[in-house]
Amino acid sequence: MDLCIIGSGYVGLVSGACFAEVGHHVVCVDNDQRKVDMLQAGQIPIYEPGLEDMVHRNVASKRLRFTNSIEDGVDNSQVIFIAVPTPPQADGGVDLTYIERVAREIAGVLKPNQYRVVVDKSTVPVKTGEKVAETIRRYNKQAEFDVVSNPEFLREGCAVPDLMAPDRIVIGSAAQAATDLMKRVYEPFQAPILVTDVNSAELIKHAANSFLSLKISYINAVSAICEATGADVEMVASGIGMDKRIGRNFLNAGLGYGGSCFPKDVKAFIAIARQLGTPFHLLEEVEQINARQLNRFIDKVRDALWVLKEKRIAVWGLTFKPDTDDVRNSVAIDLVNRLVAEGAHVTAYDPKGAEKAVDWKLIDPAKVKLTSSPLEAVEGAEALILATEWKEFANQDFPEVKKRMHTPMIFDGRNLFDPNTMREMGFTYYAVGRSRPNAAS
Ligand code: UDX
Repeated sequence: MDLCIIGSGYVGLVSGACFAEVGHHVVCVDNDQRKVDMLQAGQIPIYEPGLEDMVHRNVASKRLRFTNSIEDGVDNSQVIFIAVPTPPQADGGVDLTYIERVAREIAGVLKPNQYRVVVDKSTVPVKTGEKVAETIRRYNKQAEFDVVSNPEFLREGCAVPDLMAPDRIVIGSAAQAATDLMKRVYEPFQAPILVTDVNSAELIKHAANSFLSLKISYINAVSAICEATGADVEMVASGIGMDKRIGRNFLNAGLGYGGSCFPKDVKAFIAIARQLGTPFHLLEEVEQINARQLNRFIDKVRDALWVLKEKRIAVWGLTFKPDTDDVRNSVAIDLVNRLVAEGAHVTAYDPKGAEKAVDWKLIDPAKVKLTSSPLEAVEGAEALILATEWKEFANQDFPEVKKRMHTPMIFDGRNLFDPNTMREMGFTYYAVGRSRPNAAS
């Protein structure tokens, strides 16, 4: 099939590459000429495992191309996906100006007798599909089209496998012709397809992300109780996770959730519910637990070091999760900035995220020393904080880490390390929701 994706960000670019991979002809449209130039030159603006090869392969086989022309995309495609950003507004609501503009632009280039399915892939509040349809109709009375909601559930860092083998495909559609075309788009993926009305599909995305955030906050609240009682949150998570009704996934206690989806989507769902007159107070508590989790962790570091001012603290990890270079809304970045604000001398290392953290002005390189290796970061440090659980951090030469540190003290914000091993090696080791540090060292 001939498909067009408008917006070549995380969702748009990965979706485009995966659609091409299964045999569709895909044109990715972006209004950022610099990005289009990069992609046409074979450069991938984001780091996502497996993406670069997939893009190159499909460009070479002429199934994937890039343009800045919406007209080109709309003219040559049966199905048009909208995958532009829907950033948060100050009040927690969702800024839909990019979606509205794209709807107008599509209306401007749709020709009569040229039936098109316009698919909303961006995360949007319920009833956005209706607005998109109204807008296209308002600006093009003759357009023949249907609007479908098809939320995307991919996770950064494993976006390619998530998209190639999804748990489910949700198609929110009110028209049989559109549903049939969408089923053909997704047939090669051999995943279960749930067809719903448009409003339900839109709600599914916010409800799913809010529920996952709730699971994380739940286990983080339990981790506080574990710390107060000497219980081990990892064991509690395993114990409750073995119940199939609950499941072990997304019960990893840590510094809290971050990234460009969960914080924004929980906030948006709270705002949407409020606007509809059906307030969702449970989600307000989810947010508060998430904020408290970082506070509690910093308190722990402060308690151990007495004062943070002038302390040399190494931080491993800046991205909001491993296997991505994305540092937006990263709890690790918040942590670094709060340590700096208290006067600590922070040295940080991240395998992929440091450059973007500086480019996007999320950390000030004059205040945070960035190193090119984890060992360099711990040189002379009085404490090491593990903020993002990159696999390479688990495989470090810990005797060497200990030798280089001024004081062998580790705060594991993601429960990556084995407490006994760390203690046997002579580290004073603190984790989240796990037994208290030994008296060693
Ligand atoms: C999420 C959803 O998983 C995905 O379906 C949706 O399309 C976009 O939002 P993403 O933000 O890429 O994906 O990452 P995810 O792996 O879900 O992690 C989000 C945050 O939660 C990270 O900060 C992660 O560290 C944190 N997290 C996750 C936990 O703290 N504990 C867990 O058990 C799982």
